[in-house]
Parts: sequence; structure tokens; C-alpha cells
Amino acid sequence: PDGTILIPVVVNVLYRTTAENISLTQIQSQIDILNKDFNGLNAEFGDTTFGAVKAVVGIRFELKNVVRKSTTRTSWGTNDAMKSVASGGIAASTPDSVLNIWVVGALSGGVIGYAQFPGGAPATDGVVIVDDCFGNTGTATAPFNKGRTATHEVGHFLNLRHIWGDANCGTDFVNDTPPHNTSNFGCPSYPHRSTCAGTPIEMTMNFMDYTDDACMHMFTQGQKTRMLATFLTGGGRAGF
Ligand code: ARG
Ligand code: ZN
Ligand code: CA
Repeated sequence: PDGTILIPVVVNVLYRTTAENISLTQIQSQIDILNKDFNGLNAEFGDTTFGAVKAVVGIRFELKNVVRKSTTRTSWGTNDAMKSVASGGIAASTPDSVLNIWVVGALSGGVIGYAQFPGGAPATDGVVIVDDCFGNTGTATAPFNKGRTATHEVGHFLNLRHIWGDANCGTDFVNDTPPHNTSNFGCPSYPHRSTCAGTPIEMTMNFMDYTDDACMHMFTQGQKTRMLATFLTGGGRAGF
């Protein structure tokens, strides 16, 4: 499949404060960013750095529904409690054919988002993001105020690994992303070389690194291939 995939999205908002009950405008701003980032329509896409491998992924996102629920919890763990009514959360809507996003006030340990890879339990499928790192308006706060946390998490949802492979010079199972020593933060200046074999220039602007929202802007062709493979039979996302 290429350029034809539609991902319906349900956003589940768990709020304690009025501010955490984010506006539809903030929610739609995030959907718009996903549509830009996955279709080569983001403002930075014309940047020629790594231009040969940069990819238009070709996935469209459509907001289908917003579910809201108040909670007394100030913070959630990464144990999926927000995905179950029994633990005060909101149950996933038809997770085999819908991307569920839970927006919460905070995650413990300063985590700003997490995702489930393809092949996991349907009830916990989807991504979780804190409200101040969601979209680009309302409660969105720098340096995570350009919606790239969702772009990164949807990358995981579609089977992408961190670009450094979660190890020193580890692998992300993608050939056209260079090895990195580790995660990068902030806004590294170009070129930043790794000390891995061949001392390649690290792709710090890849959505699967940990740089600031303003400093990440691309997926590669290899990442595109890996993501699109999930939509084939047995790929874990064939229901879309
Ligand atoms: N720490 C999160 C994760 O590993 C996401 C980080 C996203 N980075 C960003 N600049 N928004 O899934
Ligand atoms: Zn990640
Ligand atoms: Ca790689």
C-alpha cells in the first residue's frame, strides 16, 4: 500500500483540571500535524539534509471521535491503567481499526508519551501522550509543542524502533538510518558524528530520535517500508 492508507483516530481525554480537558482545536491541531509529518507536508520537508532518503510516508489521519472523562488522578504510570474503565480510564474504541490516543495530565517519571507496538493486546493498543506535549496550541508547551511526540509514538505504533536501537550503536532494523551512539536531545548542530563504525553523521532530525519538536522533521524510505509492512496480512495493522 502507498498513499492510500487511512487511519481513523479516537482521542480519549482524561482530565483532572479544566486545562487538561483540552479543546477540540488543540486535538485537531495534532491530527493536522500527523497529516503533515506523514505526507511530506511539514514546513521543514524541503530541507535537503538527508534529502535522498527522506520519505513521504503516505498515511492520512482522520479524527473520528473524542471521548472525555474526568479523573482525580494527577499522574498515570505506563501500566496502561488509563485504557481500562476498572482503573479509572477509558476503554479503547475498536482498536483493530482505530488508532486510540489517550491524552493524560501527566505520566510518572517525566515520560511524555508511550506506544504499543503492533501485535500486542487489542485492549491496550494505541498511544498515550501528556496534554502539554499534544498538538501545537492550548496547553502545548515548548520544547514539545509542535506535535512531534504523537508523530514519534505513531512511528512506534507502526513498528519503528528508536533510531539508536536502544543501545550504543544499536540497530533500528532500518538500513538507511545511520547508527547512533545513543539518543540525542535538544537541537544538535549539524553535522553531529557518531563514533559507531564508519563514524556516520547522525540523523538527529529523525522523528525516532529524542530531539526537540522543532529539531525533528523526517522519516526515511526504510522507515516508510517498515511502517507500511504493518498493514499487510500478519503485519499487526492489517485491520486498517
Ligand atoms: N520519550 C518518548 C518515547 O520514547 C517520546 C519522545 C518524543 N520526542 C519529542 N521531541 N517529542 O516514546
Ligand atoms: Zn520512543
Ligand atoms: Ca539504521
